[in-house]
Amino acid sequence: MNKPRELLTVHSIAEIRALVRGFQRDGLRVGFVPTMGNLHAGHYALVELAREHADRVVASVFVNPSQFGPLEDYSRYPRTLAADQAGLLAAGCDVLFAPSVEEMYGVPQSAEVVVPDLVDILCGAFRPGHFQGVATVVAKLFNIVGADVAVFGRKDYQQFIVIQQMVAALNMPIEIVGAPTCRDHDGLAMSSRNQYLNATERQVAPMIYQTLLAIARRFGDGESVTSLEAYGVAQLTQVGFTVDYVSIRNAQDLSAPLVDQPGIVLIAARLGSTRLIDNQPLGSGAAVAP
Ligand code: PAJ
Repeated sequence: MNKPRELLTVHSIAEIRALVRGFQRDGLRVGFVPTMGNLHAGHYALVELAREHADRVVASVFVNPSQFGPLEDYSRYPRTLAADQAGLLAAGCDVLFAPSVEEMYGVPQSAEVVVPDLVDILCGAFRPGHFQGVATVVAKLFNIVGADVAVFGRKDYQQFIVIQQMVAALNMPIEIVGAPTCRDHDGLAMSSRNQYLNATERQVAPMIYQTLLAIARRFGDGESVTSLEAYGVAQLTQVGFTVDYVSIRNAQDLSAPLVDQPGIVLIAARLGSTRLIDNQPLGSGAAVAP
């Protein structure tokens, strides 16, 4: 009988560097999918997309302490490495980099990445320090892995723009690809945090996507940004959400929306202690049911 295949998993910076250098010396293009583990279909779709852009795919699983606030879920963030390894292998991943906190942050952290225009708006206003933590750990991972292309989900749209701007501003030699949002059958964007929802909350949660679609539709009919944002807040509050924001922005850089440029509507709202985010591009063909 064949031994079941296992995903090649390395824990040290030296090992992942050597492996990626080896691929590149052989003329292979390397794709990278950074994650915090507890993987679901949305993550696996990123691996599959990375395969389309590269000959070898590296994923990382690292629950990054520096992007969690003091009252956030760092210690209870689910760690499910064995299941993640099996899923990554099935999705076509070649190598997993799973470093310890000591490996990533063992030396004094005397430098950081800041993306000033983006870190204090939208989710940044509710999660001080979050995007600085994300930008810094992603810069570290890019420097460690040395991949040619990296894939990020558009579900975390502000994160995607932060990474795009960081790479452009600092001339990082890596291409960034954005992946579409993976949803459950009822439209709820897949997220590791969905498992924190109780049965009643899980039933209400897809209202975020319904509200996004309604806003996109009404935007197409010419309704104003202010009226649509107020409509979104009212819809969600009515069914039990505490709304952090419903915001229509320029899709390019998340600045104020302009008439002749692509727009996007973004929502962050809490059900009990669970914070959910989602977004929907605005414009022709945007309002498509799941
Ligand atoms: P994590 O939340 O594990 O997400 C890893 C990647 O999966 C991100 O690019 C995220 O946008 C994407 N993703 C999550 N849910 C998705 C969905 N439903 N559809 C499509 N893509 C989805 O984001 C992080 O980790 C961290 O901040 C990280 C970038 C790894 C830095 O620590």
